[in-house]
Amino acid sequence: MKKFLDLGLQPLANSFIKKKNISLKEKKFKLSVGFNKKNYLVSIINTVSKEKMFNKDYPYKSSESKTMKKSFKLLANKIKKKFKPSFTIEIGSNDGAFIKNFKKKDVVGVEPCKNLAQLTKREKYKIYAEYWNIRLAKKITKYRKADLIYSANTLSHIKNYNEIFKAIKNSLSDDGILILEDPSLLECLKNVAYDQFYCEHIYVFSTIALKAILNNFDLEIFNIENTKTHGGSNRYYIKDKSNIKFKIHKNVKKEINKEIKFGLHKFSTYKNFGSKVRKSKKNLLNIFKKLKKNNFKIIGYGATAKSCTVLNYCGLGNTDIKYFYDTTTYKINKYLPGSKILIKEYKKLDRREVDIVYLGAWNFKDEIFKKEQSFIKKGGKFITHIPYPKII
Ligand code: TMP
Repeated sequence: MKKFLDLGLQPLANSFIKKKNISLKEKKFKLSVGFNKKNYLVSIINTVSKEKMFNKDYPYKSSESKTMKKSFKLLANKIKKKFKPSFTIEIGSNDGAFIKNFKKKDVVGVEPCKNLAQLTKREKYKIYAEYWNIRLAKKITKYRKADLIYSANTLSHIKNYNEIFKAIKNSLSDDGILILEDPSLLECLKNVAYDQFYCEHIYVFSTIALKAILNNFDLEIFNIENTKTHGGSNRYYIKDKSNIKFKIHKNVKKEINKEIKFGLHKFSTYKNFGSKVRKSKKNLLNIFKKLKKNNFKIIGYGATAKSCTVLNYCGLGNTDIKYFYDTTTYKINKYLPGSKILIKEYKKLDRREVDIVYLGAWNFKDEIFKKEQSFIKKGGKFITHIPYPKII
């Protein structure tokens, strides 16, 4: 693997700090990103053990985002209509935002974060609070294989993809399909969204990389949809090569052509991305410097795992951003890892209190702008680094 980006020392992106621990030394890890020219895979180079990241304290709940909840519901209905699966497995079922749209007897979830698994178990869904692997897959599919395996924003978090895909392959029925959804590398590069890289995102997949990996398991992509989730994602429909029920849609070729045209198969593209990221840091810091000179009151919006990468890479702290607003209960009154900026309970932006807002949750920009119309009308501004640092 050849390194193309160094994001410095970073704390775990979801290790929000309690007030009583604010003066304790945080564990930090080297975060750098590389490209494997054999299978085109882009991944972070030093990975952190899964037990350190995905445990009973994992804070991210899919159902806390209205947008995510709604889109899971729409998707579940679409899948049920189109593929009529009689048995579905979700890998990384989080708090059940997706599987709750299925009948309890037709679905099982796999979720190693026990706090999240518990939330869905309480509603009498069958959840395995374990990591997905070959042993667990055998246990789940002992009596019936899955017609559908769904996994969103999870496989990019799992280091050993060989075991994952082997377990998936063994679990699918003859006509069974796998639907994967993860941030798109093409969108990440186009947007200079280097904050897609943090400890949990071991991989940011491209279609060409996924295709190369799947090929080792005689699996293939038969359709792709581009979605807006997480700032630009792809939903891949995957089947066994021996499964002739589904034809390969022209979207697959189209997406691959887009990626090749952009140069996702060449190291030089990533090297160029690395320079853009360094420039982005410089320009973002310049913006903050100018604003601070004018004594503008700046706060942050959406204390995302992504913003952890930006703040720590750029060295921004609580003298730059006074506090963050966030709607996630778990994060409120805690501090962002590394930068130690306080997270306050969200309230509508008020022009009398705030001049400028750094968009941590830039992937929800449209939703946020709609919500904060009155702040914008009164001259309130936002800072974003996507696709380049600017005030809007
Ligand atoms: P995500 O980008 O990892 O999905 O996280 C989004 C974060 O942003 C989550 O902590 C909730 C927060 N958020 C708000 O505080 N207000 C909002 O209006 C939106 C859309 C998100």
